[in-house]
Amino acid sequence: MIELSPRALLVTGGCGFIGSNFVRYWLAQHPQSHVVVYDKLTYAGRKKNLADLWEDARLKLVVGDIGDLDLVRATCQQENIDLIVNFAAETHVDQSILGPLVFTDTNVRGTHVLLEVARELGLRLHHISTDEVYGHIRDDHQSVETDELAPRSPYAASKAAADQLVQAYAITYGLPVTITRGANNVGPYQYPEKAVPLFATNAILGEAIPVYGDGLQMRDYAHVHDHCTGIETVLLRGEIGEVYNVGTGREMTNLDMVDIVLDTLGKSHDLVRHVTDRPGHDRRYSMNVDKLRELGWQPKYDPREAVAEAAKWYANNRAWWEPIRNGEFREYYEKQYAERLAGSVR
Ligand code: NAD
Ligand code: TYD
Repeated sequence: MIELSPRALLVTGGCGFIGSNFVRYWLAQHPQSHVVVYDKLTYAGRKKNLADLWEDARLKLVVGDIGDLDLVRATCQQENIDLIVNFAAETHVDQSILGPLVFTDTNVRGTHVLLEVARELGLRLHHISTDEVYGHIRDDHQSVETDELAPRSPYAASKAAADQLVQAYAITYGLPVTITRGANNVGPYQYPEKAVPLFATNAILGEAIPVYGDGLQMRDYAHVHDHCTGIETVLLRGEIGEVYNVGTGREMTNLDMVDIVLDTLGKSHDLVRHVTDRPGHDRRYSMNVDKLRELGWQPKYDPREAVAEAAKWYANNRAWWEPIRNGEFREYYEKQYAERLAGSVR
């Protein structure tokens, strides 16, 4: 097996949840590396997610949109980039239901622009995808990398379109690409629109926990650390042109996840409210991760530990999330939950 070792990385979306965890992890593991974070700093991207690292000479920030071909090209040329790792995306299913067009702009066209720059400059591109591209999965199956894509939300459809563009560039132009498809990640710096940080912060504030529908939907809640080591494994030892699933391979119901959050925080289960379901809500995601394991990777956290660790981080880092919850997030929360909570049941 050839071990490749990229030196200069353009990490798009590096100020977001997974991207910032990845940058921190990568620089710690690869001291000779140079990382340029390229980020539009949308509501989900925060410079302070990497506050401890901006003084590090190996790290630089370029604020920009991945759809800006000239800026992406100029940045890659000036910084002698040899690998683009694309985390940049609009990432929340509920936001994609409220306002879907920006998902196509960033997730589809933006990825396409990165592919064009990679083609022009002869760069490798690693694309971060999601298990949501497989659609919802029947009880007796786990998604494997060769399964057909069957996305069902605007978010998932935009991610699936991006995956297919990445694969088309590999086939048509021989572009050196790899793709990882991650399960639901949890851990530090996740914007509180997503279920685990939303439930944890609501519980800490003593507010209702809005569970969509019956709460029996199933997700593989994986710790972001294990996603980062999975991506690193593929960057170093993955086969060019291949796709790798990254998750724990074990899923739980949302109600089980809520129990772990509330028990970890010592909060009452009376906070739980069943609210109107998400339209087109995928019932179950489940991935087989053997292909990545065959490269020598294994997750450190089981899903229960991952959720509990994430809940604890929110309990210990109020200074990170309180300004978000007290700011622009309130408007979104009102729109998404006010009516639902008014009509909720225990
Ligand atoms: P996030 O929403 O926390 O962060 C996204 C980042 O991308 C932000 O920093 C934002 O400013 C930046 N961004 C958005 N639009 C941009 C644009 N047009 N140009 C440049 N930067 C832009 O997302 P996340 O949860 O960290 O997800 C990162 C990647 O992982 C995404 O591609 C997502 O689809 C994928 N993924 C996420 C999960 C999950 O559970 N969160 C699971 C599997 C895969
Ligand atoms: P989320 O974190 O949005 O991830 P995804 O939809 O991409 O899997 O949601 C995780 C699960 O939690 C999903 O089944 C939807 C559910 N959910 C709720 O029940 N209530 C909520 O308020 C949110 C945001 C999610």
